[in-house]
Amino acid sequence: MKIVVIGGTGLIGSKVIAKLTEHGHGAVAASPNTGVNTLTGEGLADALTGADVVVDVSNSPSFADDDVLAFFTTSTGNLLAAEAAAGVGHHVALSVVGADRLPASGYLRAKVAQEALITSSDIPYSIVRATQFFEFVKGIADSATDGDTVRLSHALMQPIAADDVATAVARAAAGAPLNATVEIAGPEKLGIDDLVREGLSLLGDPRTVVTDPSAGYFGAHPDNGELTPGPDAEIFPTSYEAWAQR
Ligand SMILES: NC(=O)c1ccc[n+]([C@@H]2O[C@H](COP(=O)([O-])OP(=O)(O)OC[C@H]3O[C@@H](n4cnc5c(N)ncnc54)[C@H](OP(=O)(O)O)[C@@H]3O)[C@@H](O)[C@H]2O)c1
Repeated sequence: MKIVVIGGTGLIGSKVIAKLTEHGHGAVAASPNTGVNTLTGEGLADALTGADVVVDVSNSPSFADDDVLAFFTTSTGNLLAAEAAAGVGHHVALSVVGADRLPASGYLRAKVAQEALITSSDIPYSIVRATQFFEFVKGIADSATDGDTVRLSHALMQPIAADDVATAVARAAAGAPLNATVEIAGPEKLGIDDLVREGLSLLGDPRTVVTDPSAGYFGAHPDNGELTPGPDAEIFPTSYEAWAQR
């Protein structure tokens, strides 16, 4: 089975490629670094020739509200049109748990727009919504830093290892289209403040995390479990501690 991974050079994409290859699938990475650009359409038709499945784990280079919305709507629109022309039978995309519960976040609005294009297209699909990756902890800190201080609330998240995300995405790609959205998460609920405090300490990062109930999270103010998964989510076993020890 030929599986094209858009964003196959990225954090999740490179792991998805490795897992699919290990299981005998013909997985091909497609991204600007391999000559495929879903924003401009460059190289897309050639890359999708003979593809059975397309996995989209690309990400916007800029998280500014307008940029991220333009990225996910333009790239997803181009991709779905190219898939229809190439006869691709399954579109797999990675989204974010709670994306529709925090519309104040421009990034999450863009992910909801991406999902809407997929679910309203004629291409059979599977959407995997993941919680925040352990690997994203520094990115969260950077978004909330002022000088040497990081201000974050104690809102709960249930983060997951990128490796476990890649396992779920690769499994979705190798399986039949679900025509549905599923959720995946790690094993523990942690306050964003505690998660980042521990993460920065592990990294030897000198910044101080201050718990601030009024602090936002990428433009939103989660305070009621919006970033944690529902009861039907698949829970992966890797804890933050076990991941950090690796
Ligand atoms: N971070 C989190 O905690 C989290 C949680 C849930 C879901 N997600 C989702 O996970 C997905 C993957 O994230 P990631 O951290 O693995 O991303 P990443 O490491 O930043 O990789 C982004 C990938 O997108 C590619 N890309 C950028 N512009 C492109 C374009 N115009 N055309 C085609 N490909 C393009 C990049 O290609 P080049 O290498 O060639 O530049 C790269 O392969 C995202 O969709 C994100 O929304 C993230």
